[in-house]
Amino acid sequence: METILLDDSEADLLKAAEIIKNGGIVGIPTETVYGLGADASDPDAVEKIFTAKGRPADNPLIVHLADFSDAEKYTSAIPELAKKIADKFCPGPLTIVLPKNDRIPSITSGGLDTVGIRIPSHKTMHRIIELSGCPIAAPSANTSGLPSPTSAEHVMDDMSGKINAVVDGGQSEFGVESTVIAIENETSVRILRPGCITREMLLELCDDVIIDPAILHDLEAGQTAASPGMKYKHYSPSADVIMVEGSIEEFTAYVEKFNAPCVCSLIYDEDEEYFPYRYMTYGSSSSEQAHWLFQRLRELDELGVKKVFVRAPSLDGVGLAVYNRLIRAAGFEVIRL
Ligand code: TXA
Ligand code: MG
Repeated sequence: METILLDDSEADLLKAAEIIKNGGIVGIPTETVYGLGADASDPDAVEKIFTAKGRPADNPLIVHLADFSDAEKYTSAIPELAKKIADKFCPGPLTIVLPKNDRIPSITSGGLDTVGIRIPSHKTMHRIIELSGCPIAAPSANTSGLPSPTSAEHVMDDMSGKINAVVDGGQSEFGVESTVIAIENETSVRILRPGCITREMLLELCDDVIIDPAILHDLEAGQTAASPGMKYKHYSPSADVIMVEGSIEEFTAYVEKFNAPCVCSLIYDEDEEYFPYRYMTYGSSSSEQAHWLFQRLRELDELGVKKVFVRAPSLDGVGLAVYNRLIRAAGFEVIRL
C-alpha cells in the first residue's frame, strides 16, 4: 500500500476523514504524540491498527472524541468526579477510563469492559474527528515496542507502506502520551500511566491520587496490570539503555568506566559543561525532557549507538512521566549511585 502524506489544509483533512470513515487507517497529529487513527466502532478498521503496529490483542485502544459530552454515547456510566476532572482538563493530554457500552467493540477495548476516553486539544486532530463524525481509536503511531512518534516523519519511518496516510501537523507539543486515569471512588483516582496532567494537578480536584505500582516497578510473574500496556517492554531503541541516578559528578565517574566510541549519554542541558564524553542533551526542565525524549531515542538509533547512559529525570510533576518511559526503555535497568 502507498502511504500518502497530507498537510493540515481543510482539503487534506477532508481526505483523512474520508479514509477513516471508509475503514482505513491514518497517522494523525495530537498534542502528546502522533496516533494511528481508525473508526473505533468498526472492528475491521480497528484490526488494521493492531496489524500495522504489531500490537498484542489484549492491549486496549484509547477512543478520541471531539467533546467530553460525546462520552455518554460510548459509556454506560460517568461518575461525577470524572465529569469534574474532564471539565478542568479536557480537551488536553488526559485519558479517563470509564465503563464502555456496546458501541465500542471488544477488539477496541482489548476485551475489557472499560474504554479510555480522550479529548485531544490539537486543532488538526479535533478537525479530523469533526469531519469524520467517528469516534477515533488511536494508539501511538509507532511500531509496538519502539519510541512513540512526535513528528510525521517518525510515523512515516515506522508505518510507510502499512497505512493509508499520514497528516503532518508539526512537532507534538508535549512529547509523551496522555495521562491515563481510572476513577477509584467518589473522591480519588488512580494514575495508570503518568503524563503531562500530573498527580499534583489532579490533587487539586481529588482527595487522593494513587500512583499505580506498575508505573515505577516491573510486574512480578502472575501480577496483572490495571493498564495492560504497562506490562510490555516499551519505548526502546535498539541501543541498550541504562538509567543512572546520581549527581552529574557521580554520573560522569560512572560513565568513564564504559567510555567507548559506540557509547553515548543522554544528559540535562546544564550538564553539558561538566561532561567530557560523547553526549546528547534532552532539556533542562521535566517538560522539556518530555518534549525531547522520544525524538532523542530515535536519533540515538540513527547514530548507530550501542549503549546509552541516561541521567535519570526527577520524579516530581511531569518528571514522573519521563521516568516511567525511560525505565521501560531501559528494561528496568537502573544504576543508583
Ligand atoms: O496521548 C496518547 O494517549 C496517545 C495519543 C495518540 O492520543 N495514545 C496512546 O495510545 O498513547 P497507546 O495505545 O499507545 O497507549 C494507551 C495506553 C496503553 O497503556 C493501554 O493499555 C492503556 O492506555 N489503556 C487504554 N484503554 C484502557 C482501559 N480501558 N483500561 C486500562 N488501560 C487502558
Ligand atoms: Mg503507545
